Amino acid sequence: MAYDNKVALITGANKGLGLEIARQLGKQGVTVVLSARDAAKGEPAVAILKSEGIDAHFVKLEVTEEADVDALPGYFGEKFGRLDILVNNAGVERDRGGITREGFRETYETNVIAPYFVTQALLPLLKAAPAGRIVNHSSILGSLTVIGAPDQVAAEWLGAAYSSSKAALNMLTVIQMRQLAGTNVKVNAAHPGWVKTDLGGDGAQLEVTDGAKTAVELALLPEDGPTGGYFHGGETLPW
Ligand SMILES: NC(=O)c1ccc[n+]([C@@H]2O[C@H](COP(=O)([O-])OP(=O)(O)OC[C@H]3O[C@@H](n4cnc5c(N)ncnc54)[C@H](OP(=O)(O)O)[C@@H]3O)[C@@H](O)[C@H]2O)c1
Repeated sequence: MAYDNKVALITGANKGLGLEIARQLGKQGVTVVLSARDAAKGEPAVAILKSEGIDAHFVKLEVTEEADVDALPGYFGEKFGRLDILVNNAGVERDRGGITREGFRETYETNVIAPYFVTQALLPLLKAAPAGRIVNHSSILGSLTVIGAPDQVAAEWLGAAYSSSKAALNMLTVIQMRQLAGTNVKVNAAHPGWVKTDLGGDGAQLEVTDGAKTAVELALLPEDGPTGGYFHGGETLPW
């Protein structure tokens, strides 16, 4: 049975911004598939959204695990017959306290290589959707312009692995835009703001409800919306 609703996959959706993006998309009538690497964390998150009246589902996805990624097209094809929105949200920051080679590799595996291959696996479904949308959850800390301006970012925010991974994700966004020219699929990079999550910390400025808004807006862009951009709250950010 083909779904009438738009269907969205949000990676790393068991908590933080991913869970809130799923909630806000669900409240707008999108069927949301929350993915998490651990079913024991993902299933309860789905249950919370269901209790709020949202059509929510769970799929296990360790984004760095090839077998999990390879299984995605079959899951969406068989269960929904479609995928309209992909939010590459799962991410890690391993610089604090000093970056190790292992931490650097984990950062790149999770923040760069994984979103690329998750997207590649799902492109046929996204291209078949009437208005395919890809959101890469980036960060202002991936901006070469901002990181290069000493008056804009304090030295304690300079994370070699995290910032360079988000800069790479920004480049992937532009490459994907070029590759998707002439299709119905739009791809954009989102900076959520500095948000109170496990990653952002308690000192952050924004609550998740506000932090999720940029990604949600880009996931629901109309046909005349932008592609290949880098945004926060409707404003274009410098690469
Ligand atoms: N919070 C901020 O201020 C801020 C600012 C700019 C950008 N961002 C970006 O926003 C995104 C979400 O961050 P957040 O603040 O919500 O962080 P968070 O609360 O730490 O959540 C991160 C999510 O990613 C998942 N994840 C990490 N590695 C994974 C893997 N290998 N496979 C599957 N899932 C994985 C985590 O799962 P587990 O629970 O299993 O670890 C968790 O669900 C990230 O890409 C982050 O870089 C956040």
